[in-house]
Amino acid sequence: MKSILLLVSLWSTVSLHAHVDEEVLYAFEKACMSCHDTYEKNKKAPPLVAINQVYLRLADGNRTVAMERIKTFLAAPSTEGALMKPAVKLFAVMPKIELTQEEMRDFAQVLVETEFEIPEWFDEHYKTHELEKPQEGNVSK
Ligand code: HEC
Repeated sequence: MKSILLLVSLWSTVSLHAHVDEEVLYAFEKACMSCHDTYEKNKKAPPLVAINQVYLRLADGNRTVAMERIKTFLAAPSTEGALMKPAVKLFAVMPKIELTQEEMRDFAQVLVETEFEIPEWFDEHYKTHELEKPQEGNVSK
C-alpha cells in the first residue's frame, strides 16, 4: 500500500513535466525502489529526492546533463564515477543492474523530471557533503 501511494505521488509529479508512462513508473518502482525510498534514507540506499537534488545541482539545473550523467552511472556504477561519494562510503557503491538503453533513459528521466518536495533538512545536511562537480568533458552534450 505504501509503495502504491509513493507511486501515485511520483506519477502525478512526473507528469507535470514530461510524459512518462505508467508502465515506466511501475518498472522503475520494481527495479529501483526495493532499495531507494522516495524521501527517507533507509538502510540500503539514499532517497530518490537526494539523487534528484544532487544531480540537478551539480549540473546547475541542466536536466539534459543530469540525465546523461545518471545514464552513464547506471551503465557502469563505480566508486570513481559516483557523484554521491558520502553515500558510497555509507552504503558501498550501487550494484550494477542489467538495464536496456531504453530503461536507463526512462529511469534517468523519472529521477530528473519528478518535482520532489525538498525536505527542510536537505540543504543543511548536504552542505556537509562538499559535493564536487564532475570534470567537464566527460559528458556528451
Ligand atoms: C540493491 C539496492 C539498489 C537498487 C535495487 C538500486 N540502487 Fe541506486 N543506489 C544504491 C546505493 C547503495 C546507492 C548509493 C551508493 C552510490 O552512490 O553508488 C545508490 C545510488 C544511486 C544513484 C546515485 C549514484 C551516484 O553516487 O552518483 C543513482 C543515480 C541510482 N542509485 C539510481 C538507481 C536506479 C535508476 C535504480 C533502478 C534501476 C537503482 N538505483 C536501484 C542501491 C541500489
